[in-house]
Amino acid sequence: MLAHGIKTLGVLGAGQMGTGIALVAALRAKIPRVLLHDRDPAQIRSGLSLMDKLLAKDVGKGRITEGEAKDARGRVVVIGEEGVKGLRDVDMVVEAVSESLPLKQSIFASFAAELRPDAILASNTSSISITKIAAAAIPQGVSAASAEGIKSAGRVVGLHFFNPVPVMKLVELISALQTTPETLDRARAFAGACGKEVTTSKDVPGFVSNALLMPFINEAIMCLEKGTATRDDIDTTLKLGMNHPMGPLQLADFIGLDTCLAIQQTLYDGTRDSKYRPCVLLERMVDARWLGKKSGRGFYVYD
Ligand code: CAA
Repeated sequence: MLAHGIKTLGVLGAGQMGTGIALVAALRAKIPRVLLHDRDPAQIRSGLSLMDKLLAKDVGKGRITEGEAKDARGRVVVIGEEGVKGLRDVDMVVEAVSESLPLKQSIFASFAAELRPDAILASNTSSISITKIAAAAIPQGVSAASAEGIKSAGRVVGLHFFNPVPVMKLVELISALQTTPETLDRARAFAGACGKEVTTSKDVPGFVSNALLMPFINEAIMCLEKGTATRDDIDTTLKLGMNHPMGPLQLADFIGLDTCLAIQQTLYDGTRDSKYRPCVLLERMVDARWLGKKSGRGFYVYD
């Protein structure tokens, strides 16, 4: 296997994705220090409690020993108010915040200002252009075409994990226009060490995964909107007829309806193709803040 050479990893964002990435990095890849940061302390608390629960479950099922669980948990260090400055020594950082280009651009600009110039900068984005994110990682005042500009943007890569991260076997690797082959190799090696199969995609809106998944989910919501079938019949058709683990409406709730809408908007804006236009019902559900499982209500109601 290729060497990723990562001794200290930073993970920015302690939501479901960031927590899962930190966990597989500590438990599977055995990265000695995994620094986890989120600007919301409540998010950190719930992330760590999920991690503890998942480790305890693995111990209970005899998959790992108590010692292995304790070692993995011990490798995860929370970075508090210091924020991105607290990640200054990392060999690689994975950004896993919400799907907003301006937010990601400001984060990658702060990575460029605070992190070592040789650190790999990965984004877990599920649809936003890695090329745009990479352009934001060039220090202020440096030309994108200069040797320094090319080097700065060349260390940015898309590393798209899937939810739930400890369970899903795939990572989609996305090369920006600027990404260097060395960055790609190290990111691929890191994902492999986390126990994941890696596929690669060009930097197109939605990459391979969401260019295919989101129109499918959108069509299912349109079926519901048009009254073609009930929620349960739509989901059951796909679950039992096509052997999908979840129906598309349940999956949309699981991903988060705001995330589905943000990805669909990126697909629509990025391609200008009407086949990607988000349906009105999805927009209204997000307007109502019915965001799926995480908010307690989406197409289904959760306790
Ligand atoms: N975090 C960690 N582990 C979880 C979990 C979570 N949030 N939810 C479930 N699991 C684990 C369970 O603990 C269980 O593990 P064990 O085998 O160790 O007991 C395992 O998953 C199976 O869980 P369950 O038996 O409770 O339930 P299930 O068999 O119905 O499986 C599921 C749950 C794995 C989520 C399954 O329904 C599934 O695969 N659903 C589809 C998930 C999917 O498509 N994910 C991709 C979404 S798209 C995305 O992430 C990217 C994007 O860009 C939008």
